[in-house]
Amino acid sequence: RSLLHKQLAGERIIVVSNREPYIHLKKEDRIEVNRPASGLVTAVEPVMRACSGTWIAHGSGSADRETVDRHDRVAVPPDHPEYRLRRIWLTTEEENGYYYGFANEGLWPLCHIAHVRPIFRTSDWQSYVAINQRFADAVVREADSDDPVVLVQDYHFALLPGMVRAALPKATIITFWHIPWPNPESFGICPWREELLRGMLGSTILGFHTPFHCKNFLETVDRYLETRIEHESSTISRRGNLTLVESYPISIQWPPAWEKNLPSVEQCRSEVRAALGLPVHHRIGIGVDRQDYTKGILERFRAVEKMLELHPELVGNFTLIQIAAPTRSALEDYQTFEAQVRNLAIRINQRFSRGNWQPICLKVEHHEPEQVNRYYRAADVCVVTSLHDGMNLVAKEFVAAREDERGVLVLSQFTGAAHELHESLIVNPYHIEQTADAIHRALTMPEEEQRERMHSMRMLVRDFNVYRWAGRMLLDAARIRQREKLAARIG
Ligand code: F6P
Repeated sequence: RSLLHKQLAGERIIVVSNREPYIHLKKEDRIEVNRPASGLVTAVEPVMRACSGTWIAHGSGSADRETVDRHDRVAVPPDHPEYRLRRIWLTTEEENGYYYGFANEGLWPLCHIAHVRPIFRTSDWQSYVAINQRFADAVVREADSDDPVVLVQDYHFALLPGMVRAALPKATIITFWHIPWPNPESFGICPWREELLRGMLGSTILGFHTPFHCKNFLETVDRYLETRIEHESSTISRRGNLTLVESYPISIQWPPAWEKNLPSVEQCRSEVRAALGLPVHHRIGIGVDRQDYTKGILERFRAVEKMLELHPELVGNFTLIQIAAPTRSALEDYQTFEAQVRNLAIRINQRFSRGNWQPICLKVEHHEPEQVNRYYRAADVCVVTSLHDGMNLVAKEFVAAREDERGVLVLSQFTGAAHELHESLIVNPYHIEQTADAIHRALTMPEEEQRERMHSMRMLVRDFNVYRWAGRMLLDAARIRQREKLAARIG
């Protein structure tokens, strides 16, 4: 936190994201405040608390607009306000075009290798352009100088950096792309590839999770735009604007905010088991995801099935608790996926159930972070099997929750987190037998080995926490700002 303050030297920042960090919902005669399931919010919220300023977001979850209208400018967090949340309201048509359509049926499958075909509609694109412009205008209105520091989040706003740059040429614009960046061939199928790239190159800094995604981006720009690329400094210059392309692996808050409110690991273990009617020594696996086809939930269930087939002694003695937060449910691909997950869980449960016990406990509902952390603490193994994932913060959250240095992480090699958490059991989620074997190995791992692995992963997450993530970007931005001021003085 202190590093952030030093970099900003009293400056207030403006964050732009689609997802809002708090959801105000009308429940009978009171307003309930929830936290959405979003890696982006998990990471950026503590940074915003530390820096203060304004967070501009789409008021998507705060659905009952009539009642929450007065919450379009609100100080948050509700219990201890530290920054301002400025909501932008969209009509259903705008949300369908910009968010569901272009961002989630187009860019999301374009950037993730999950073999779901992207859909590009001209009407969605037009909506995406218009909404990017509306958010860019809001940034300009919220800025209290001609050179604000603006943090742009994710694939919903690829055009916004260019739009803000046009209105505020001296702004420092840091754009972070929270999902993978594909290779030039894959990206090239997008009918508006040049427009998207030009928009992103309005940024001062463009951040990705891994050097591999940076490399893909540089190659994509090289293929489709006229620019000058300096590979040594990882910069792209286009029409007098210089963009640094750098990897900044995202992380979580350390120490985690919820830590002091949570019961001990022992208590969580016994409470979670008691709530499910399971005996104290019952083995538990945990999966926590938005119910998204990129998360490898079907592959995870098949791995559990295979493990029970190969190790019948675990039948009746192991349960995978799968928290699946409903997400983007208006889209057909997500409805189909939700049904596939439900049906596979039913089939596997029917195959193995004994009395009241079933191997998969599927919870398709929203859980607040405190509840999720109780499950992390109760589990013997956390299973992350994403088919493709920018970072995956569930892996880091699980590690942070295990102050007892017990529990094992099984982690997909196709996540950004696998490049950092080397002491996890790394798997290819498409290889069902390998994943089954890793879960079994986790359940039979000696305590000493668990402790060694968990200790070293905890040190990494502690040292490379989310303040370090934001601090590194702001430090690079501060250097660039200084250099530009100097150049302007020299003329
Ligand atoms: O972390 C990737 C991400 O797409 C974020 O941009 C987003 O907030 C999160 O996943 C959840 O998705 P959504 O905001 O569409 O619910």
